[in-house]
Amino acid sequence: MNDFKPGLEGVVAVETEIAEPDREGGSLRYRGIDIEELVGHYPYEAVWGLLVDNDLNSKMPDPEPYEPAALTGNAPSDLQAETARLSGEWKLGKLNEISDEQAREDLGRLSAEMMEIVARSAAKADGREPAPDDVVAQGETAAERFLLRWRGEADPRHVKAIDTYWICTAEHGLNASTFTARVVASTGADCGAAMSAAVGALSGPLHGGAPARVLPMLDEVAKTGDPEGYVRNILEQHGRIMGFGHRVYRAEDPRSRILKRTAQEVGSPRMEVAEALEEAALAELHKRKPDYVIATNVEFYSAVLLDAADVPPELTPAMFACSRVAGWSAHILEQKQTGRLFRPADRYVGPGPRSLSAV
Ligand code: COA
Repeated sequence: MNDFKPGLEGVVAVETEIAEPDREGGSLRYRGIDIEELVGHYPYEAVWGLLVDNDLNSKMPDPEPYEPAALTGNAPSDLQAETARLSGEWKLGKLNEISDEQAREDLGRLSAEMMEIVARSAAKADGREPAPDDVVAQGETAAERFLLRWRGEADPRHVKAIDTYWICTAEHGLNASTFTARVVASTGADCGAAMSAAVGALSGPLHGGAPARVLPMLDEVAKTGDPEGYVRNILEQHGRIMGFGHRVYRAEDPRSRILKRTAQEVGSPRMEVAEALEEAALAELHKRKPDYVIATNVEFYSAVLLDAADVPPELTPAMFACSRVAGWSAHILEQKQTGRLFRPADRYVGPGPRSLSAV
C-alpha cells in the first residue's frame, strides 16, 4: 500500500462550490465572481453574504450587545476562548439537530461577534477601554465599526486597507483552519465549536502568522539600502524569502496584486522599500529557478497594507481570523448540507505483537 500522503497534500477531501483559485490565470473567484470585482465596490460584510448565502445583499449582521468574559489582550487566544464560550452563552444547537436556516443564523451572529472580540482584545492590548456603543454605531461598515471599537476613531485610509485585506483573504479553499472547521462541523458539533477550533488552527505561525515575518525583512532592507545583497544573502544560506512562492498559484497571486495597489492608494510609507525588495527577490529567484514560477504571494503586501493601517504584527493572525469568518461559515454550512463525518484511515507502523515483559 503506497497511498500515504504526509499532510494529505493533493488529497481531495471535499468538493466545494465556494471559492475557486484559478491556478494558471492568477485569479480568485468567490462563487464564480472575481475578487477584483468585489474590492472597493462591496464592503466585507456583503462579501460574507456572497460566500455564505451566494447573495451580495445578504450581509453579515451587526454584532449583538455582548461583554466578553475575561480578555487577556492576546487576540488569538481571546478569540478562541470567547468564541467557544458563545456556544454556551447563546445555547447554540448541534449542527445535526438544527435546520440549515438556524445554522446560517448562528454563523452570522458568531462572525459579527468574533470581530467584536478581536477589536476589544486589541483595545485591551493597547491598554485602553473599547469605545462605547454610541461611538461604534457611527460606523457604516464592519471595518469602520471594528476600528471605532478598537481605537475610538476610524481613519478612512485604515478602513479601506482593512476592508480590502478582509475581502482578499476571506476564503481560499481547504487550508488547515478551514479543514479543521469542517472536521468539527462533520461531527455535528455546534457552530461555536467549529469556529473556535478553526481559530486554534490559524494561531500557528505556519498558517496565519506570515505577515509578521515580512516586516523585519523590510526593516532590514530600509537599514542597509541593499535589497539585492539582502536577497542573495538569504538564498546563499538556503533560506526562504518570506512572501514569495505559493503551493497553488503558478502565476501572480491575484490577492497580492490587489493588496499592493491598495497599499499604494492608502499611501503606505513602506511602499518604496517593499517594491525594491520585491523586484530584487523576483529577479534573483527567477535567475536561480528559471523554470519554476515563484511570484509574490498574499503575505507580502498583506504585511505592508496592515502596517499602513497601523495594525501591529502581533495582531495579524487575529486580523486573518476576522477575514476568514466568512470562509469558515460558508464551509461549515456546506459541510452540514453535503458532507459526511470525517474518519480518515491510518496505517499502523509500530511494533508487532509482543509480550508485556518486553515493555
Ligand atoms: N524563497 C526562496 N526559495 C524558494 C521560495 C522562497 N520564498 N519559494 C520556493 N523556493 C524554492 C525552494 O527553495 C525550492 O528549491 P529547491 O528545489 O532547490 O529546494 C523550490 O523553490 C520549490 O520549493 P517548494 O517548497 O517545494 O515549493 P512550493 O511551491 O511548494 O512552495 C511555499 C510554496 C509557500 C512553501 C514556498 O514558496 C515558501 O516557503 N515561501 C516562503 C514562505 C511564505 O511566504 N509563506 C506564505 C505562503 S502564502
